[in-house]
Amino acid sequence: MRTRWIAAGALVLVLMLLAVAGGRFRGATAASAPDLEGLIKTKGLTPDQVRAAVQTFVPPGKYDEYLMFSSGGQSGQVLVFGMPSMRLLRVIGVFSPESWQGYGFSNETKEILREQAQAKEALTWGDTHHPAISETNAEYDGQFLFINDKANARIAVIDLRDFSTKQIIRNPNAASNHGAVVSPNTEYILEGTQYAAPFPFKHVPLTQENYNKSYRGLATFWKFDRAKGRIDPSASFQIELPPYWQDLADFGKFESDGWVFMNSFNTERAIGGTLEKKPALEIGASANDVDYMHIINYKKAAQLIASGKGTTVNGIKVLSLADAIANGVLYFAPEPKSPHGNDIAPRGDYVVIGGKLDPNVTIYSVKKIQQAIKDKAFSGKDPYGVPILSFDKVMEAQVKIGLGPLHTQFDDQGNAYTSLFLDSAVAKWTLGGPYKKPAEAWKLVDKLPVQYNIGHLAAVMGDTAKPGGKYLVALNKWSVDQYTNVGPLFPQNFQLIDISGEKMKLLSNTPVGMAEPHLSQIIPMDKVKSWAVYPDVGMNPLTMKVDPNATAPGKQRIVRKGKTVEVWMTAMRSHFTPDRIQVRQGDTVILHITNIERAKDAIHGFAIDRYNVNLSLEPGKYESVKFVADRTGVFPFYCTEFCSALHLEMAGYLEVAP
Ligand code: CUA
Repeated sequence: MRTRWIAAGALVLVLMLLAVAGGRFRGATAASAPDLEGLIKTKGLTPDQVRAAVQTFVPPGKYDEYLMFSSGGQSGQVLVFGMPSMRLLRVIGVFSPESWQGYGFSNETKEILREQAQAKEALTWGDTHHPAISETNAEYDGQFLFINDKANARIAVIDLRDFSTKQIIRNPNAASNHGAVVSPNTEYILEGTQYAAPFPFKHVPLTQENYNKSYRGLATFWKFDRAKGRIDPSASFQIELPPYWQDLADFGKFESDGWVFMNSFNTERAIGGTLEKKPALEIGASANDVDYMHIINYKKAAQLIASGKGTTVNGIKVLSLADAIANGVLYFAPEPKSPHGNDIAPRGDYVVIGGKLDPNVTIYSVKKIQQAIKDKAFSGKDPYGVPILSFDKVMEAQVKIGLGPLHTQFDDQGNAYTSLFLDSAVAKWTLGGPYKKPAEAWKLVDKLPVQYNIGHLAAVMGDTAKPGGKYLVALNKWSVDQYTNVGPLFPQNFQLIDISGEKMKLLSNTPVGMAEPHLSQIIPMDKVKSWAVYPDVGMNPLTMKVDPNATAPGKQRIVRKGKTVEVWMTAMRSHFTPDRIQVRQGDTVILHITNIERAKDAIHGFAIDRYNVNLSLEPGKYESVKFVADRTGVFPFYCTEFCSALHLEMAGYLEVAP
């Protein structure tokens, strides 16, 4: 205790010296304010905590070093944090309407939300799990972000120039998905199915026989057109897989380029039936000692599709399971019971698997996998004829790290970090050659408890070819005793960890009280070049071009054509032009609104009372909204952003006459 306080005293002294040198501290030592040492003592802070506070503190007006893109879980959105402060900087509307951003209210964003959605399914939420930043040469390039909706088998494309969603693609043949990962140069986004379903999707009675015969998994490779900033379904394809529950996947890079490694569980093909006295799914699905890692040669699959091998099912080309097997596209390798994380080492040379019910991480060598395929070193075939590589021939190492290993991230020193769900800890362990000398290879070197039940973890560029080290975030599912009670729905708990030294150090807690985020990706702030204002006045956020209906000052007008009233409006501090609109009950009203401001942060909103209309108009943005004026009355419309001293006066009236 004594030595701890001597250390604390020394640290405080350094801090005070620094502050005095800065010339700002003298005033604060006046009798009225507690001095720094007193403050530290009163709060009972340890030297490590004081250090952590200083390390993570970003003074007002200064910026964070990193951005962390985090899935917003059941909120259907994406969360953007600054790191190391862990301040929430943005929420991006993706699969659910987001009223602040007018997302799901304007014509442009309604179209995104409805794109490829089946008309019968009015989807108003998504379950976002895995954000993936676009990559160039297997490094984040900060241009686009992709994220999956597990619940509805959708993938969204977010443009990081304006941090807004541009496209949502619905998988026509899958019911659910897990994961969105990008290839090293973002040619493809891979979407794996989670729960097997009848293929093609329709009703097939759920019997064991039908399940085995007619249910399937799929690996969908969505082709990304970087110039257009959109997924091109016509150039995309799927590979039919056995009805196992395909899970997380990763694209190979460098020596594993052209390959994909994907976990699966429930290779038992359990279908449940608790009420019928059959084993519960969780029992049936974890009966076998091993499941199968899928090893997919997707470049070969793309060639086969290009040469006409696939058949089109619901608008997308599919390579059949038989063709995938016959042409060396699909192999299996046994993997530890109920695997979850599947992560490729920075050089693309190892595949790391965490088996939830196995205390080891299992590491596969890509070279050995390739050799085993060449040698046909198979230990058998699965019921569908997929060759299974002999485990001993492809396994490089197993490192015993603790209970419930899930996901792995890497640093710049040849270390790996794996989340331990059951242990509620992060394990730090070493990779082998070429990352570490043989004597230091494949060893558990540190373990840090976290609060509690960690799922994913994210390190700076931690799943790329160039991990940044420095920080790691534990995405904990439970927070239990870490925060004041705010009702029985507890926040999730993000914990920031310093990984720059030999020992990991816990720095801070961040409650996330809006959903269960799954995965995050962390990128240096300067790699993301986002706009402060839309570069041209009248830019349509959907087309990213000046819209033909954008309105210049002096060109504002109201035009009636039959039963349609069209309004070309501008917004600027502190008025809408026009500010009076007169229509008749039953008219269709189309508003085209352009924010003609050029000043940063001169944002306006546009809401019509009782008409469920709310738009966000950032400087230079064009948006439109269409509705039927079915209720009579005089409806105020107003600006919803406090934009100026006369913000309250930034209003008008919509008259709907009988
Ligand atoms: Cu514009 Cu308030």
